[in-house]
Amino acid sequence: MTLDVAALRADTPGCAHVTHFNSAGAALQPRPVIDAVIDHVRLEAEIGGYAAAEERGDALDATYDSIGRLIGAGPDEIAVVGSATLAWDIAFYGLRFRPGDRVITTTTEYASNYIAYLHRARRDGIVVEVAPDTPAGDIDVAALAEMLEDGGVGLVSINHMPTQQGLINPAAAVGEVTRAAGVPFLLDACQTVGQVPIDVGAMGCDFLSATSRKYLRGPRGMGFLHVRPEMMERLDPLVLDLRGAVWTHPDRYEMRPDAKRFETWEMPMALKIGFGRAVEYALDVGIEAGWERVHALAHRLRSLLASLAGVTVTDRGTVLGGLVTFTVDGVAASDIKTELSRHRINVSTSTRASAVLDMDRRHLDEVVRASVHYFNTDEELERFVDHIERIAATHSG
Ligand SMILES: Cc1ncc(COP(=O)(O)O)c(C=O)c1O
Repeated sequence: MTLDVAALRADTPGCAHVTHFNSAGAALQPRPVIDAVIDHVRLEAEIGGYAAAEERGDALDATYDSIGRLIGAGPDEIAVVGSATLAWDIAFYGLRFRPGDRVITTTTEYASNYIAYLHRARRDGIVVEVAPDTPAGDIDVAALAEMLEDGGVGLVSINHMPTQQGLINPAAAVGEVTRAAGVPFLLDACQTVGQVPIDVGAMGCDFLSATSRKYLRGPRGMGFLHVRPEMMERLDPLVLDLRGAVWTHPDRYEMRPDAKRFETWEMPMALKIGFGRAVEYALDVGIEAGWERVHALAHRLRSLLASLAGVTVTDRGTVLGGLVTFTVDGVAASDIKTELSRHRINVSTSTRASAVLDMDRRHLDEVVRASVHYFNTDEELERFVDHIERIAATHSG
């Protein structure tokens, strides 16, 4: 299916103001999402926040159905929370580990996740191990399977797409070996949900965390965790309040049976409705069609950048997604970002601290992150590359 890019852009007010190559940071929201959020804020102002939530109860419930349809899960398997990090933390910190339990991750792991591994290594005595890569740059699933054979593994936890480069890890292959070994698998899909087709059953993950604001084009301040029903009882809620449990007797409570036990009561209702609307929008556009276009645009951008003198594309992997990263000889990534912003072009950067293992082994301090979405155009790519060519030429020799 070919997308009607002109219509999609007309539906995206931001396209009239900026050239947006930062959808892996926060994408531009489409009009129906913006309207859903603003309408609810207005309703709260008019009739009061509690009455507004009651009146829009169906829309609030629909957010779980929509997320479930997006990832091939039931609504009861979803917890909606304030960020992908919080969703991930609910899974990671909810698992009980014994001292010496091994947690296996990947070379490209994201700072916040790795900081949490180190925190629990110090606090709980877990042992953090890193599975090697294949020569192409993906996680080496055969090597991971061998590491699992040694036993004592409490969790395999990887990103689907890292923060600092366009690699899409072979999550389903990882899920196959973790299932075979009977080891829980936590997938950080913050950068891929909305970008690539995802089916949690087919991928074999036990927990999946993601955000609203990136490839789903939803509002900031929302994320979700998927918990496979069989794993529900394995997770100790990070925080338990009257949303997650009922206080049944003076000395007892009962936890809800579903994943909402991992939420807390207060919630930005307007954002939650907007999040659900964003998921519906993504499903209407078509995840497959969107992915096909993102993949093609990113491929073209990498080829154009790679042809420029002084520019190095820094993505590595068998399958590369919409996040294109590069360096320019002699120019700091942050200066490139600033220079582009003068022309209303949005990019972001990744620094060493966002992914120490990966950046150190590649001797990188900072890279430019230019992430495309299906609403970007070839004309935007060409204009972008012209700017990079000029920046590179100004600083060469
Ligand atoms: C790979 C990866 N995981 C997790 C996160 C955290 O997501 P959030 O900022 O929504 O908590 C990010 C954010 O950029 C990320 O790139």
